[in-house]
Amino acid sequence: MKRRILIIGASGQIGTELTSFLRQQYGPDQVIASDIRKSAIIPEVDGPFEVLDATDKEALLALLIKHDIGHVYLMAAMLSATGELHPMKAWDLNMSTLFNVLNLAKDGYIDRIFWPSSIAVFGPTTPREQTPQHTIMEPSTVYGISKQTGERWCAYYFAKYGVDVRSLRYPGLISYKTPPGGGTTDYAIDIYHKALNEGTYSCFLSAETTLPMMYMDDAIRATITLMEAPSDQVKIRSSYNLAGMSFDPVAIAASIQKHLPDFTMTYAPDFRQAIADSWPKSIDDSHAQNDWGWAAQFDLETTTKVMLASLKSQY
Ligand code: SER
Repeated sequence: MKRRILIIGASGQIGTELTSFLRQQYGPDQVIASDIRKSAIIPEVDGPFEVLDATDKEALLALLIKHDIGHVYLMAAMLSATGELHPMKAWDLNMSTLFNVLNLAKDGYIDRIFWPSSIAVFGPTTPREQTPQHTIMEPSTVYGISKQTGERWCAYYFAKYGVDVRSLRYPGLISYKTPPGGGTTDYAIDIYHKALNEGTYSCFLSAETTLPMMYMDDAIRATITLMEAPSDQVKIRSSYNLAGMSFDPVAIAASIQKHLPDFTMTYAPDFRQAIADSWPKSIDDSHAQNDWGWAAQFDLETTTKVMLASLKSQY
């Protein structure tokens, strides 16, 4: 029998949707969801859930053995905006969970790891347009520092110990099923809720702040495609650049106004502006395209259509 899949951070923005998708694909019992607490949001496809603090290596090991786990998706992390409020906590959480998983793979308890990186690995000295895979990386947030460091450790564990670890530098992810988790790109989700709810949105980034973004379905597809790719196609073992679309707050507001003509937007940038200003505007993901056939499907217009239609039923 094929070994099972463990998702750590299964109650989060990505974890919830990844759990449902993988359960549809492999069967509900083959996918064990875990998180520090059980969330009120139940994945669309229900199945086994375990309470797990992934900073506790012994507890993690016990779960791996109990469920005969082969693949681990480590989706637990503190994101950019929350991380700036709790720098040491963000560093400890993001690094200790990664080391636990890497070391358990090194010791033969895990066959394959997915670990997400982020556009936050880049910084103010990085070229901002079509940011290349290999470039200057001087991140200015704790979150970005933890992701850049993590990338180096992933590449090291692959080269030194043969650990099969795979990673993507996610752009800002847009989705409607769960609330976002304290990132700088969260405005691109909040705006749809407020547009439907109140008809107006006060944006915490300035009008011309262009950032790389992606609709969740594309992110899930990229993740699974990378995890299922034959090992020799996965040539980058730090983390792959990944692109969907790029837009600024003016463009997303305009796309909403096509459906809700009375929608208005005001701007009140806060501390998250400095974070956004240090990140790329667009990403060159040609390595992902060439190595394992990546192509995004959702643009801004399609994303807006799906977000408004799906959220309408919630309000
Ligand atoms: N969406 C994330 C954030 O804003 C970036 O990885 O923190």
